[in-house]
Amino acid sequence: MEPEDEMGERNFSYLKEIQPIWDKHCISCHDGVKQPMSLKGELKVVDHQSKRKYTDSYLSLTHARPDGDDRAWRGDPHNPEVNWISSLSEPTLLPPYFAGSNKSNLIKRLENGHGGTKLTPQEIRKVSLWIDLLVPQIGDYREANNWSDKDREFYDRYDKKREAARAEDQENIRQYIQSLQTKEQKK
Ligand code: HEC
Repeated sequence: MEPEDEMGERNFSYLKEIQPIWDKHCISCHDGVKQPMSLKGELKVVDHQSKRKYTDSYLSLTHARPDGDDRAWRGDPHNPEVNWISSLSEPTLLPPYFAGSNKSNLIKRLENGHGGTKLTPQEIRKVSLWIDLLVPQIGDYREANNWSDKDREFYDRYDKKREAARAEDQENIRQYIQSLQTKEQKK
């Protein structure tokens, strides 16, 4: 089978892959006024715990609410529209089709042309992919951040360390392969 469309090898970002689908097909109704459930894509809600900004659409679809002492936004993985297996859940054995896009009301809506919309099969598969990747919002740690300069410097510093460690690994591997080849030639 051919790999799916233009996804290629990039990281999966809901903001870049899924929000444009809602912008095109849904926000004419789901603007938070005509329909109270907003699917709009401005990064306006700030979660001070994760230091991340969220869109209305992401919070609506994951049924997220500010929760707990820290008032961090938490989604509800067991809602019927978009259900997923929480990455924090216990690793118990699950029956087939326990959760995910095949159990999602949202996907049924899209397939049935909800609100007169006509998504392409490719768009519907993309939304399924988002659900089955366990609803990530960002595809890169820097995306949609709500960082101070200090937070950014902190991340930059560790990013540079990671980069240096990667370069060192690669150099070690190169030298190792070279030493094997030299041995081979001496035989
Ligand atoms: C023509 C207007 C219209 C359009 C366009 C539209 N919707 Fe809706 N949507 C509605 C109405 C009306 C309801 C409430 C009745 C219902 O649940 O079907 C609704 C309800 C929903 C719900 C359930 C809301 C809840 O509170 O749980 C979801 C999810 C949803 N729409 C998603 C979408 C998505 C995704 C799109 C774009 C692909 C879309 N809608 C496009 C009119 C629309």
